[in-house]
Amino acid sequence: MCGIIGYTGEGEALPVLVEGIRLLSYRGYDSAGVAVERDGALVVEKDKGRIEDLAPSWDRTRLAGRTGIGHTRWATHGRPSRVNAHPQSDAAGDVVVVHNGVLDNDIALREELAAAGVGFVSETDTEVFAHLFARTFRGDPVATARGVLARCHGRFALLFLHRRLPGTLVAVRRGSPLLVGLGRGECLVASDVRALAGRADRVLELEEDEIAVVTPAGATVHAADGRRVTREPKALRYDEASLGRGGFPHWTLKEIHEQPERLADLVAARIDPVHGRVRLDELALSDADLASLDRVDLVGSGTASYAAMFGARAIEALAGLPARMVPGSEYDALPETLGPRRLVVAVSQSGETADTHAAVEAAKAAGARTVGVLNARASRIARSVEGFVDIHAGPEIGVASTKVYTSMLLSLLLLAVRIAEARGRRGALMPLRPGLDALPDAVRRAVAGAPAVKDVAREVHRAQNMLYLGRGPDHATAVEGALKMKEISYIHAEGYAAGEMKHGPIALVSWDVPTVAVMGHGEHRTRMLSNVREVKARDGLVIAVAAEDDADSPKVSDLLVQVPTLHPWIAPIVHVVPLQLLAYEVAKRRGCDIDQPRNLAKSVTVQ
Ligand code: G6P
Repeated sequence: MCGIIGYTGEGEALPVLVEGIRLLSYRGYDSAGVAVERDGALVVEKDKGRIEDLAPSWDRTRLAGRTGIGHTRWATHGRPSRVNAHPQSDAAGDVVVVHNGVLDNDIALREELAAAGVGFVSETDTEVFAHLFARTFRGDPVATARGVLARCHGRFALLFLHRRLPGTLVAVRRGSPLLVGLGRGECLVASDVRALAGRADRVLELEEDEIAVVTPAGATVHAADGRRVTREPKALRYDEASLGRGGFPHWTLKEIHEQPERLADLVAARIDPVHGRVRLDELALSDADLASLDRVDLVGSGTASYAAMFGARAIEALAGLPARMVPGSEYDALPETLGPRRLVVAVSQSGETADTHAAVEAAKAAGARTVGVLNARASRIARSVEGFVDIHAGPEIGVASTKVYTSMLLSLLLLAVRIAEARGRRGALMPLRPGLDALPDAVRRAVAGAPAVKDVAREVHRAQNMLYLGRGPDHATAVEGALKMKEISYIHAEGYAAGEMKHGPIALVSWDVPTVAVMGHGEHRTRMLSNVREVKARDGLVIAVAAEDDADSPKVSDLLVQVPTLHPWIAPIVHVVPLQLLAYEVAKRRGCDIDQPRNLAKSVTVQ
């Protein structure tokens, strides 16, 4: 959440900062700002709103200069406003700072500084860093940054610009990612590699508590004790295709359409065609380790927690091992001793989510084994866990998760199979093989079913409330479908285990509260048919998501979206696709900001 960009070089800083903020906006977008240094003077522009609306009014002449910092914000301390936007500065305007993360001892430091006569203008914790840097500064950037680090607790990435250090950026990392990009005659600093692509050809990643002093000629990196660290920059590799929307009107739609290809790649990478086994090379747990487990806890937040919910069921069903999902935000409060027979699986797209990371730390402290099912190799959670399952979904820019969810489901299903195999169920993969081979094409057909979904969107887009029902492996599909609708169309939607509907939510059923029923397979489908009838008996509007070979669901529903028939443990990966498309089409009709919904952030790095 929040994005940091910095530039120092031979060119004008402002256009690079604005472009960097634009590329980082998916991480937070309630306000944005820049500060540019010229001839030892700092000029700041910032306000509430999005960079596309703010930047055109910024005066290029006033903001001329070859060194600068920029920021896009997701508010934590203080509402979105001009005053609370970053950069923040000290009272004299000697130093400016942009900040990701949270300063934990903000209140104590504010009180201390206020007692020493410092006047605060914003409600942000960020302003504390500016005052501390200004008061500690004696000319040496590393000594000053060390002084700031010594006083501050929490997780943050900071980028400072001091008017007496012309052409120089001072970057500090504690718990929140920060990268230095090296180009020709210029250097950049960014919180995300996306903002470096196209300008820098090599990258230096800062480690915990490191400080970088960055000039157009390059960067020096220092450890917390001030010692110079030697680190070879890595070549910057970034998939150019992921920088553009490829002709799609929204990132979310592009990412929905990418799913067949992403899943095909994942199946190819994970199934060993010769031995017919699941390949999870970086799992770091041996067959003996997996065989000795007595429980699996899966932790995650938002969409990742719903993927974890599916994963828990798959592990119980396929590997015969008790498993449960616990939201990351609840896990560290569990007063349990876990021990090495407990496996904790952290599911996360970004690998940076603070709640999920805290759960991993709590699990490790309690002696559990840990594995990450992640989309980010160089992330905080990836560094904390023992084993790693890369979901290979590629960068996801739309704030509401789509392609990552389906890649998580597939990865978790394969993890369940891998655990089952290690526990003696050697044939666990066999019944799934035909379905896995058919999966990419089935998802392609589900995406191509968009016209039927558009018809549904036309009927339901004025609703204020919706219900989503599913059973067994599709309970997660229902809650994830409801979350998508909430996130991008702002319709209040509840996802329920269908059997629970009659224990309360049925009171809401009416023609104005559409019910989306994910029909599923076998026994689950038989029970779903009864639940749908209960809705119909109360004059509810039912939209069924049903397999093509399901002859009954069309008879009991008002609107129908058909999807290819697959093995029940693979089918949820297909079933969610029309629900993603439905949320997208409804949001479009309601004129919502689909890629950057209000109040959300792609990655939430505060607890
Ligand atoms: C935020 C996003 C959600 C996402 C959740 C977990 O709340 O808005 O879309 O599911 O974080 O993110 P992670 O990166 O851990 O998967």
